[in-house]
Amino acid sequence: MYFSVLPLLLGPLAGVLAVPLIRAEPSIVVTKVSPAYWRATLSNPPFNIQGQAFYEDLYEVIDQVANDNDVKVVVFDSNVENFWIAHFDLLNPVPSELVGEAWWENMSRLANLPVLTVASIRGIARGGGAEFAAALDVRFGSKEKAIFAQPEVGLGSLAGGGGMRLVPMLTGRGRAMEIILGADDFDADTAALYGWINRSIPDEQLDGFVDKFARRVASWDKYALASAKSIINQDTGFPSREQVISDYDNYMAAFNQGVVAQRAEALIAAGLQSDEEFEIHANEELVRFSGDGPWPAE
Ligand SMILES: *[C@@H]1O[C@H](CO)[C@@H](O)[C@H](O)[C@H]1NC(C)=O
Ligand SMILES: *[C@@H]1O[C@H](CO)[C@@H](O)[C@H](O)[C@H]1NC(C)=O
Repeated sequence: MYFSVLPLLLGPLAGVLAVPLIRAEPSIVVTKVSPAYWRATLSNPPFNIQGQAFYEDLYEVIDQVANDNDVKVVVFDSNVENFWIAHFDLLNPVPSELVGEAWWENMSRLANLPVLTVASIRGIARGGGAEFAAALDVRFGSKEKAIFAQPEVGLGSLAGGGGMRLVPMLTGRGRAMEIILGADDFDADTAALYGWINRSIPDEQLDGFVDKFARRVASWDKYALASAKSIINQDTGFPSREQVISDYDNYMAAFNQGVVAQRAEALIAAGLQSDEEFEIHANEELVRFSGDGPWPAE
């Protein structure tokens, strides 16, 4: 998860910019395939940025799921070409009440609901997108098109939304070191081999596979599903509020020191969050922005 640089750059102006967005279309579209099987489609082109709209709409979806007695499985997919969720919004300030503690409370709530959550990942899931996927119950990725990364350390920052804890839980110590300290892209085959995602599925089979899995789960008794999820949660655990709040504080501290904000500004000037090619190859570009700068424009 990244932190928006604009508040650091604009200071008092940031508060003025942080007015609620007025949006005609939701950034997450909920489709009830059946009362028991819902799809929540990430739908905020061009990059499905994890910004204000994402947080507001996601918390709304979690409320809907929590307050519905019939739903048993929710699939989170994307209708944006090339992206599941690119990363945290570095360009537009995200109100602080939506991130940090609120994020982890909402993720813990979702992890403990009597409903199976499934990430169906086609495209890039970096930073906060990878953390969100890791916080869901089950992950399936497109063999050809899914990309996973925790690039924060490459920026001089840290993952502040659960990734520091979830990645080691899923992959073990050595692989977590490679993922988090290497800060590079991983394809679905490698992510599956590492246990970061459940399976890598050929792209043309992904939707059919996930649909079949979701329909199968949706046909079971809710009581049995709820008990099974709760027992698995007891044994595998889920990162605690204290752990993730401490990660968030460390990430804020990292972001506010040294050249991290200037580096993020340089990345944005070079095309991050505006240029699609740059965004796709952001993790190759990142090595040009190491050290104290000045960083080459291209
Ligand atoms: C979720 O986030 C919202 C918005 O910041 C917040 O009001 C709420 O308390 C959070 N926690 C839970 C458990 O929903
Ligand atoms: C999900 O992935 C875990 C490893 O991360 C694996 O143990 C489990 O069997 C997988 N589940 C499915 C449904 O593929």
